[in-house]
Amino acid sequence: MRIAKDMNRDWKFLKTEGGAWESVNLPHTWNAQDGANGFNFYKGACWYEKRFQVTSQEEGKRFFLEFQGSNSVTDVYMNGKHLGQHRGGYSTFRFDVTDGLAVGGENTLSVKVDNTVYEDVYPQMADFTFYGGIYRDVALIVAEPVHFDLMDHGSQGIYITQEKVDREKAELTVRSRISNSREATEKVRLWLEVLDDAGKTVAYGAREVFVEAGSTAEAAVPLSIENPNLWHGLENPYLYSLKASLASCNDTVDEVLIPFGVRHFEVDAEKGFFLNGEHLPLHGVSRHQDRKDMGWAITPREQDEDMALIKEVGANSIRLAHYQHNQYFYDLCDREGMVLWAEIPFISVMGKSDADGENAKQQLVELIRQNYNHPSIFFWGVQNEIQIGGEKPLVRQVVQELAEIAKKEDPNRLTTMANVMFVKDGDPYNFMTDTVGYNKYYGWYQGQAEDFAGWLDGFHAANPKVKLSISEYGAEGIIQYHSETPKVKDYTEEYHALYHETVWKIFEARPYLWGTYVWNMFDFGANIRDEGGVQGRNNKGLVTYDRKIKKDAFYMYKAHWSKEKFVHITGKRFVERATGEIDLKVYTTCGKVRLQVNGTTMEEKDGDGHVVVFRQVPLQMGENTLQVEGLMADGSLEARDTAHFQRVREENPSYGAPEAKGGVVDNWFTMPEDLEDVVVEELVMSEDCFSTKDSLGAMMENMEAKAVIRKYLGDVESQPMYGMLEGMSIDMLAGMAEETFTEKVMYLLNKELSAIRKGQEQ
Ligand code: GCU
Repeated sequence: MRIAKDMNRDWKFLKTEGGAWESVNLPHTWNAQDGANGFNFYKGACWYEKRFQVTSQEEGKRFFLEFQGSNSVTDVYMNGKHLGQHRGGYSTFRFDVTDGLAVGGENTLSVKVDNTVYEDVYPQMADFTFYGGIYRDVALIVAEPVHFDLMDHGSQGIYITQEKVDREKAELTVRSRISNSREATEKVRLWLEVLDDAGKTVAYGAREVFVEAGSTAEAAVPLSIENPNLWHGLENPYLYSLKASLASCNDTVDEVLIPFGVRHFEVDAEKGFFLNGEHLPLHGVSRHQDRKDMGWAITPREQDEDMALIKEVGANSIRLAHYQHNQYFYDLCDREGMVLWAEIPFISVMGKSDADGENAKQQLVELIRQNYNHPSIFFWGVQNEIQIGGEKPLVRQVVQELAEIAKKEDPNRLTTMANVMFVKDGDPYNFMTDTVGYNKYYGWYQGQAEDFAGWLDGFHAANPKVKLSISEYGAEGIIQYHSETPKVKDYTEEYHALYHETVWKIFEARPYLWGTYVWNMFDFGANIRDEGGVQGRNNKGLVTYDRKIKKDAFYMYKAHWSKEKFVHITGKRFVERATGEIDLKVYTTCGKVRLQVNGTTMEEKDGDGHVVVFRQVPLQMGENTLQVEGLMADGSLEARDTAHFQRVREENPSYGAPEAKGGVVDNWFTMPEDLEDVVVEELVMSEDCFSTKDSLGAMMENMEAKAVIRKYLGDVESQPMYGMLEGMSIDMLAGMAEETFTEKVMYLLNKELSAIRKGQEQ
């Protein structure tokens, strides 16, 4: 029988050649501190080393080293011999280490991990930090020579396909891969048993399998469960387990236990998502896996805490962005009933020398094979905003191929993708996968939150058959910034909450959206960012990076999605108030709410809409205590919240974000100041010459065009975001930074660019 030995403890770690070895335990990253504080974080090759014993009793077994995640290129050496390399930082990978191992003696395992960005390993460039290290568990699996295959792309070697599921019956096919490393053909008996949650056998099957020497055989066994208990999201995340074992003569030589659930589902372009025939609007959040001062090297404790927060907000679906997450987390989602979108990091740009997206394809096959049995996964995401890199036929082709690979690997789940906001309604990208998502940022990078309504309805009318979701939407919310009059791009906690209120109302009224995913559940490390006075972070989370503070917007969703009774007074961190009267906003799940100001009961309001505003609440100079009670229909008390405000004479200047213009994209460029005398005139443009329609990258290759860009936009190439921007045209950028790219600036750019002929790049 196989055993998995924990290999997480007692490693030595060397960051730089010639430096000192430190003692570390796994999970480990060398970017725990520098990964989310600024642009520069340590990127390079580092070494890990571990000595361990293998006892002579284990003679004759097979040994596999299992890494659950190491970012991003990993070379493994056993006793000085190179076993191989894994390219990709998120999937499980294994090496068969049997040959190089000293059984009955001491072994040295050396691992080189490199988080340098290589041109053929994804992601290339993205709005999150690529923490380096062996940041997930490592185990040594000791197996008998005949075992369920451990070398099929890091999978379990067993694939449970749900052929047909309804309330009467779940028809399954269990495909097992069995490996034999002996020198003779082996006859083994494969036993499969489905156990219910009380351990009772509800289905079983057996098969005699001949496995030739040194090879792997496959056996597909049909099983069916009568009157199955269906896995039904949060309401009933019912799990069966498959006990698969291999018997040879009178011995069980291998056994694995795989939890799984049975369910059927569909997406309708008009009505949305259906689970087991029931309509289930997917109220989703996105999650990144990092954490303050830990980076990606988190433990089950942090993952449990993330899940508890996601459950508290009332979400029933998670987009696990932008890469494969920890097996522990997928297991948690199975148990808790979360509907998942899982994806690969084929994001932003394709590698410059990558001819056919080979590494993206490898990561997709790993993602699917490793996670095939998780009932929580419904959608395979093949790309995220890959259009940022510019219009390239090759990219389209690779996305199409990825969609086909996902279908071939798993015909029973749905494929999807997350388009960048500027992809047009009629673009073929919208028809490559079974369903599609858009990352839309009206009310942050573009326009106003209200603009969602028009865009959604227009898209749906133009593409009535496209199964549409919003794969991302969000705004920055930094808890130290506050305003009585919140507005786009001011970074305040109040705008963040107001934005989500407005957008949620629009989404809620559109049942054709099969799912919507808040960007993001948690703030996260993004080394390319420097905004709102916070370096190295994306602050769009409903909860802070350290998971300590739930922003007001968190409670807005909780009020709409959760059944827990609560009242939440917003703006509690906005302590100093410079006005005599304020509008006090409350998020609640209670039917009635009652306000008291400084001990006097003021007003009672209906809470059914979940968002209640008490208008013109008077504040006295100095301290004020406001209390809101949530009441049941019969008037009894259900919940209570208290806020303390201080009325002051002048606004606290530290409540304003440091950005003069308050705009994120605006901040990436330096703009000419004195444009008063510029008169905008009609320009004659020709395709042979440059214009703001061209990508930044294309212009940087022409000396004259580059000079124009520099003159008007500053030293764009030194901007950490440059890599993400170079594939975009100035017109696209202007759409995201209207305050900066004024009509006059655009006119001046086009006037000078249109005088430069293309095709003479130096
Ligand atoms: C993008 C992207 C995210 C990013 C987000 C943002 O759409 O997919 O990775 O963090 O937008 O700008 O906040």
